[in-house]
Amino acid sequence: MDFSFDRLICLVLAITMFSQRVDSNKILGLKIPNIDPILNANTVCLTLPGLNHRQLEVCMRNPDVTASAIQGIQIAIHECQHQFRGHRWNCSSLETRNKIPYDSVVFKRGFRESAFAYAIAAAGVVHAVSNACSMGKLKACGCDEKRRGDEEAFRIKLNRLQLEAIHRGKGMVHGVMEHFPADLPGPQDSWEWGGCSPDVDFGEKFSRDFLDSRETYKDIHARMRLHNNRVGRQVVMNHMRRKCKCHGTSGSCQLKTCWQVTPEFRVVGSLLKERFHIATLIKAHNRNTGQLEHAHHPTHRRLNELVYFEKSPDFCERDLRSDSAGTQGRICNKTSHEMDNCESLCCGRGHNILQQTRSERCNCKFHWCCYVVCEECRITEWVSVCK
Ligand SMILES: *[C@@H]1O[C@H](CO)[C@@H](O)[C@H](O)[C@H]1NC(C)=O
Ligand SMILES: *[C@@H]1O[C@H](CO)[C@@H](O)[C@H](O)[C@H]1NC(C)=O
Repeated sequence: MDFSFDRLICLVLAITMFSQRVDSNKILGLKIPNIDPILNANTVCLTLPGLNHRQLEVCMRNPDVTASAIQGIQIAIHECQHQFRGHRWNCSSLETRNKIPYDSVVFKRGFRESAFAYAIAAAGVVHAVSNACSMGKLKACGCDEKRRGDEEAFRIKLNRLQLEAIHRGKGMVHGVMEHFPADLPGPQDSWEWGGCSPDVDFGEKFSRDFLDSRETYKDIHARMRLHNNRVGRQVVMNHMRRKCKCHGTSGSCQLKTCWQVTPEFRVVGSLLKERFHIATLIKAHNRNTGQLEHAHHPTHRRLNELVYFEKSPDFCERDLRSDSAGTQGRICNKTSHEMDNCESLCCGRGHNILQQTRSERCNCKFHWCCYVVCEECRITEWVSVCK
């Protein structure tokens, strides 16, 4: 199968000018490259701070799936940092020592940024878990049964087609068409399931069990979280693609088998980023109906949109209560028309131009299971830096 998980989640975070290999950011403290680590309740659940009671239960039942889910959250955080690299709030605060970032400030608030963070983390869990299923790494799941072909029937069919092709060849040798017309109406557009499709239903359900179980109240905050979690999961589910392979005599495509693949996580990040920009402000409802209502369009509840209930601050000045690190010292771009434009990023305070040498994590790769290897890129360049 030409499907590489490593390639899929390899996130290039910066340009390599000078790089050296370093170990960093071990997930779960398990760093045993090349051999699959032992993922049991002791090595996973009891070493993870920040799990609530229900999550701990989920973890004890499926420690290997939980490890994969945590890895999904880490991948989501890296993607969040990519998508917000030029913004005043740039997602760096989610990279906490605790591998479950839900205690960080932005997760506690009701900002547009919070909505994005919930959605991408939930999407990361579906993505990582369902791919781990199809790689055969998890005890509780495997290939998607609904999209599994009948291998025996397929083999017989392929044999028959090959025999037919041989007969057709013989017929031509004698210059006489025997039973087969020269151009069989080929089943060009028909295909059947074959190979292993990630079990997204399992991934989706686990994401619900593991993340939605954090919510014990039905207040507006809980409802916002649950909604955005679902939006994140839906983006993965709705963008599954089909990959196919041809079978038959050399180069022909007499039989085609297909399997599903998850969208690249970069695509998931970009789609959610679009939803971030058009996210909907909801108003708190006193009646505890468990429903969300738009502040401006109470009649249209658009289910696929991210929702938030608290206006974001401008993130210009340092204010830890709203997860704002301020933008002093941030690198901006004088010619950009995007968010990283100096005027906007520096909030009108102006910028200095200076030569800077800095180290950044770059070319990070997520490995099964559960660690990230990044390179350290040292970059020396002239930059504009916010005052
Ligand atoms: C993100 O913002 C933080 C805090 O201002 C800063 O230290 C960090 O360098 C920024 N990251 C990027 C990639 O710009
Ligand atoms: C700054 O923005 C311009 C215009 O978008 C872009 O072409 C250029 O590559 C950016 N420079 C840096 C250093 O990112």
